[in-house]
Amino acid sequence: MRIIRVKNRWEMSEKAAQVIIEKVKTHPFAVLGLATGGTPKGTYVNLIENHQKEGTSYAGVRTVNLDEYVGLPPDHKNSYHHFMNKHLFRGLDLPEEQIFLPNGMADDLDAECRRYDALIDALGGIDLQLLGIGKNGHIGFNEPDTSFQTKTHVVELTHSTRKANARFFENINEVPTHAITMGIASILASKEILLLASGKNKAEAMRRLWEEDVNEAFPASALKMHEHVIVIADEDALSLVDRDRHSRAR
Ligand code: GLP
Repeated sequence: MRIIRVKNRWEMSEKAAQVIIEKVKTHPFAVLGLATGGTPKGTYVNLIENHQKEGTSYAGVRTVNLDEYVGLPPDHKNSYHHFMNKHLFRGLDLPEEQIFLPNGMADDLDAECRRYDALIDALGGIDLQLLGIGKNGHIGFNEPDTSFQTKTHVVELTHSTRKANARFFENINEVPTHAITMGIASILASKEILLLASGKNKAEAMRRLWEEDVNEAFPASALKMHEHVIVIADEDALSLVDRDRHSRAR
């Protein structure tokens, strides 16, 4: 696990965008695994700006998102599909038919999970997976104690995750109770992983990532089993991690 320590969210977003742009330039047909949440928003702003000013093209890129709420249609203002359209896809030359998210409206959710896994395989796997991290260490919507063997599956969201995400809804009761998420095994199958963390509210999760061994009670610890993980984190997120211990993360 390689750590890039940056000053603030702004610098984190800029550096993360550089990694993605480099990937797209060297692999114009790359499969990008994308994430939602507040953390990657600034990265997406940088990607759009770079596309507009420098002309980096996404015409050949395919994208697969980590997760989607169950019960929200793509045009619902709180669906992850809508989030991605608003914050990234509309600003790029990415053809709509090359954009993939789990369908949270599917009648048979288990079949939808299998379809999504097969789709990722058919695309040749994910070249670069972008991740945020939940306060409890969740990645995607893989909550603590999810088996590290899981591929795409349906999860019941924990109260703490629903509470954290309630800020995007009218109130917590509006937050869906279930989601479809790529599993830890799907995430670990990506060729490269880029984890972003910013702010004091992620400091405890980053401390645990550094100090704990691989264990299912802390989902992000699975990343220690992967050979190519870059963590870009700001000073606030790393405020509980001893500088000298950065090198011990793997
Ligand atoms: C959500 C998403 C995750 C995201 C996490 C952190 O639950 N499913 O993919 O990483 O929350 O969100 P934020 O970046 O807003 O802190």
